Amino acid sequence: MSDLALRGALYTLVNDPFLNAAEDCVVYESDGLILIRDGLINAVGDYGKLKDQMPNDIETRVYPDAIFLPGFVDAHIHYPQVEIIGSYGTQLLEWLNKYTFPTEAKFNDREHAQEIADFFIAELLRNGSTTASVFCTSAPGSVDAIFEAAGARNMLILAGKMMMDSHAPADILDTASASYDDSKALIERWHKRGRRLYTVTPRFALTSSPQQLELAGALMREHSDVRLQSHISENLAEVARAAELYPAQKNYTDIYHHYGLLNERAIYGHGIHLSEGELRTFHETGARIAHCPTSNFFIGSGLFNIAATKDAARPVTVGLGTDVGGGTSFSMLRTMSEAYKMAQLRGISVTAAQSFYLATLGSAEALGIHDRVGKLQASYAADIAVLDPRATPLLTLRADVAETLDELLFALMICADDRAIQATYVAGELVYERDDRI
Ligand code: GUN
Ligand code: ZN
Repeated sequence: MSDLALRGALYTLVNDPFLNAAEDCVVYESDGLILIRDGLINAVGDYGKLKDQMPNDIETRVYPDAIFLPGFVDAHIHYPQVEIIGSYGTQLLEWLNKYTFPTEAKFNDREHAQEIADFFIAELLRNGSTTASVFCTSAPGSVDAIFEAAGARNMLILAGKMMMDSHAPADILDTASASYDDSKALIERWHKRGRRLYTVTPRFALTSSPQQLELAGALMREHSDVRLQSHISENLAEVARAAELYPAQKNYTDIYHHYGLLNERAIYGHGIHLSEGELRTFHETGARIAHCPTSNFFIGSGLFNIAATKDAARPVTVGLGTDVGGGTSFSMLRTMSEAYKMAQLRGISVTAAQSFYLATLGSAEALGIHDRVGKLQASYAADIAVLDPRATPLLTLRADVAETLDELLFALMICADDRAIQATYVAGELVYERDDRI
């Protein structure tokens, strides 16, 4: 891997602006330099201060009109659901039965899985997302497919086999013991191979027997650095069904807690309808939430309360996820826009810094990978999204009147999408470049 220097404006969050003053969280350089060596950021900062450290023969790429961001981190997404994005007219439980389960059965075919996995990885990169926490299907081959596709790009991808042994069609069900054995074999095959990380993935309490949740807990205890992802409290009918299936537990959160599935390695999608007591349990156990606003609007699930979740008295770590195919876009910019609107409906106006935090460092913290991605900082991976603030005529007009950086970034996160991603770098390699031919 050869050295590389990138010159242009750069913007990165280094702290959580929900819990700290914005000036302690944001680093911005209007003329910045990122020096890359062996896939890592070797030095980053003001060009004038750093230019003397540049080796004479280093290849330098200048992006005069762009802003470098850390690559987006999508904290919750389902790769097998790309084909059902935008499916009409249902709420969660009917949506799962009518669209999701039939499409997931197609992944019993390894070739189909590879075709969609390759498409999916390319689509992430087109949107400037360099890392994602990915749900596969119950077929172990679906995990092989996504990890192979991610490995070809040297991406940090977290993924796992869906554990689901109840209340779904037979062709996508496993059994408790088979899900344990398959997950264990997949951990051995993939966990920490290159940048890949395995994630134990019980779908949710409605499709797992008590024995299966017990075994998911055993996998977490036996593999001390493996992460867990699942769903919680997305839809009111789901919450009611969880209570029927697990009557001994006092609420939905306690179901997962009972089986040892709530800790700082666990991230749960949605968490819209959690009570104060449940949020407190999340805080106390260190479990995290992936906020997925485009999905919540589209499936009609409800309005996540970001302010209650980030309450400084008992903050819960939150990341941002697209939740494709319940979610309607791969773009983390569009996802930030919908998160803003959802908070508005709760009477809260999230700032640009808070939004960019959620989409980068916040998601990295929620996934426990903030020691290596989510920031533009020395020793971090050179995973970079190159943002073009003038990607369309409308964005150009808007950028021309923006008087402050905050104003520009806010308008971008509200109005921009994949067209504003000029290029994407993973581990210092250019893996996507927008085609600007007219
Ligand atoms: N809850 C359980 N499975 C799913 C899923 O695939 N998508 C969403 N949005 N919620 C779920
Ligand atoms: Zn989901």
